[in-house]
Amino acid sequence: PLVPRDRVRMWPWLFVFSAVSLLARGTPAVVSRKEWGASPLTCRAPLSTPVAYLITEQLARMECLAQVTCPQVLRALQSHSVHSNGWCDVAFNFLIGDDGRVYEGVGWQVQGLHTQGYNNVSLGIAFFGSTRGSNPSPAALSAAESLIVYAIQKGYLSPRYIQPLLLKEETCLVSSDSQMPRKVCPSIAPRSAWEARETHCPQMNLPAKFVIIIHTAGTSCNVSADCLTRVRDTQSYHMDKKDFCDIGYHFLVGQDGGVYEGVGWNIQGSHTYGYNDIALGVAFMGNFVEKPPSAASLEAAQDLIQCAVAKGYLTPNYLLMGHSDVANTLSPGQALYNIIKTWPHFRS
Ligand SMILES: *[C@@H]1O[C@H](CO)[C@@H](O)[C@H](O)[C@H]1NC(C)=O
Ligand SMILES: *[C@@H]1O[C@H](CO)[C@@H](O)[C@H](O)[C@H]1NC(C)=O
Repeated sequence: PLVPRDRVRMWPWLFVFSAVSLLARGTPAVVSRKEWGASPLTCRAPLSTPVAYLITEQLARMECLAQVTCPQVLRALQSHSVHSNGWCDVAFNFLIGDDGRVYEGVGWQVQGLHTQGYNNVSLGIAFFGSTRGSNPSPAALSAAESLIVYAIQKGYLSPRYIQPLLLKEETCLVSSDSQMPRKVCPSIAPRSAWEARETHCPQMNLPAKFVIIIHTAGTSCNVSADCLTRVRDTQSYHMDKKDFCDIGYHFLVGQDGGVYEGVGWNIQGSHTYGYNDIALGVAFMGNFVEKPPSAASLEAAQDLIQCAVAKGYLTPNYLLMGHSDVANTLSPGQALYNIIKTWPHFRS
């Protein structure tokens, strides 16, 4: 089940307008399904409102430069969703054209199919029609604002809604999706290499949506043999002293540039309350409050993240955060935090 993750911050422009313009805006003009020539709606799963989450996404390869072509593009999408994907309809509750008009998808009362794990607790809004690689038009963003404000006023969306996935990341994805990953996965020292104790812990909710960067605040290691000992000691400490189900991290990174399997991809971590089943916790072994980690370890962590996306363990529009962004801790240390702030997908 989803734990409310009230610490996930909202996209600032959405947050600001919802406070300011709640009173000022009128009803957004919605192009109904009938008006855009949709086939009848066959989706039935009801949505209990108000929902707590808002998912926004930008659809690639759906340009409609003239207003009259947007309904046409939408009908093609509906047909593709039903006949190629086998879904009951378009995946989103509403779609917003680059023409600044809101098009009814499955609407307010029915669950969409846009984001596994979130469909029954969120409204999904997709932007479409922009030219490849560019942001939605100002008219489209303004229409989204009106729609969201309206949703809050009418009780379809919680006023304290959380927006876990970001438009901006989707935009990045659009421009980079034709490129192959830079590298293959780093070699990962398996649990057997550090003689892990056997455990039976709960499964992850894959693909993960977040990466959380942590430091262990303990001793660091710069040769593999030492790192293996560190990892084994960490498992003992977490299980015997902290009563965790297993070592708390998904992966650990040594100053030797080695990646060490913690609980691995498929098992929940015990690193950050509320995020353990949806965030990959990557821990740098050592204390990085003052001194940054080695270049080799930083590269290893980045390769690991890229590998996670390539293998489908991490959603391509994931968010990267420091441990201190979501928990009351000094981890991952200011020196390391200053570095990860510059990494792709970072969001504090
Ligand atoms: C949404 O679906 C999940 C998984 O099927 C379920 O555990 C949860 O209770 C549902 N939430 C609501 C509000 O229906
Ligand atoms: C490796 O770590 C040891 C102890 O942690 C330290 O004394 C040594 O200087 C380090 N070596 C390098 C090359 O960083």
